Amino acid sequence: MPNYECIKVENENRVTTVTLNRPNKRNAMSPQLNEEMLDALTRLAVDPQTDVLVLTGAGESFTAGMDLQEYFRDTEHDPVLSERAKYVMREWSYNKLRFFPRVTIAAVNGWCFGGGFMPLVSCDLAIAADEAQFGLSEVNWGILPGGLVTKDVTVALGYRDAMYYALTGKTFDGQRAKEIGLVNDSVPRAELDGAVRELTETLLKLNPVTLRSTKEALRMSTDMNYEQSADYLAAKSAQLTMRDPERGRVKGLEQFLDKKTFKPGLGAYDRDKK
Ligand code: COA
Repeated sequence: MPNYECIKVENENRVTTVTLNRPNKRNAMSPQLNEEMLDALTRLAVDPQTDVLVLTGAGESFTAGMDLQEYFRDTEHDPVLSERAKYVMREWSYNKLRFFPRVTIAAVNGWCFGGGFMPLVSCDLAIAADEAQFGLSEVNWGILPGGLVTKDVTVALGYRDAMYYALTGKTFDGQRAKEIGLVNDSVPRAELDGAVRELTETLLKLNPVTLRSTKEALRMSTDMNYEQSADYLAAKSAQLTMRDPERGRVKGLEQFLDKKTFKPGLGAYDRDKK
């Protein structure tokens, strides 16, 4: 991995943690940070050491959203720069992150504003610190939630909550984010790393190829009708059987039906057993 200035990439035991790393600027997403994220995610998508990806922020912030100076003001009179900045932001936080071929988890450690909702909603799973503060602050300074933020909140939240927070700009904490379904769980800040570790340990016991197909199936079928979904999911299941070098389905059935060493209702099959 190159030496990035605005992000940090670390790998431990098949979990890659990407940290937005401009704590003095509350991890605001500048064009440089966005370029680095695009580069890192492009590399990590084919990294054999990455089975789970965690996205978090350094210091007291997940991200304070788009960098108001560098992303907005510094590009507003240069259409080429502005177009590039928007393209790179959308490319990493929507395309690369949402369709990342491994499970992704947002660990929301602190402030999460505006454009920060894009990477947050693009992650498959999210755990917040109770102390984290979320806000669709765009309305507070005269813009609407642009990029794909508006779309993301209408997908991730119910209609009333999306309207309420977009129209008032009010902040809410991790527990409220859990109540409205924006994150899966919220725990005291001191327990956030432990909660993320527990989740990654569960995921690491599961077959990564099955996880990838499951994630893709969920993402893709959301926008299909029932007939399309049935056909797509049948094809997707066949693809998984072909794609899986571990032959998980065969192993799972053997361990349950023949060896009687495993109960599929209660956890993962033993991936190491021959
Ligand atoms: N863009 C650019 N710089 C930002 C920023 C942003 N989104 N958010 C924070 N910063 C910078 C501040 O300008 C300040 O820089 P400086 O030390 O060089 O003056 C530094 O980060 C610290 O910010 P500060 O406001 O002093 O920190 P705080 O802890 O008191 O407040 C926030 C934190 C996140 C509540 C506050 O910074 C804020 O409201 N940021 C904007 C959030 C927002 O609405 N983002 C939406 C963008 S779409």
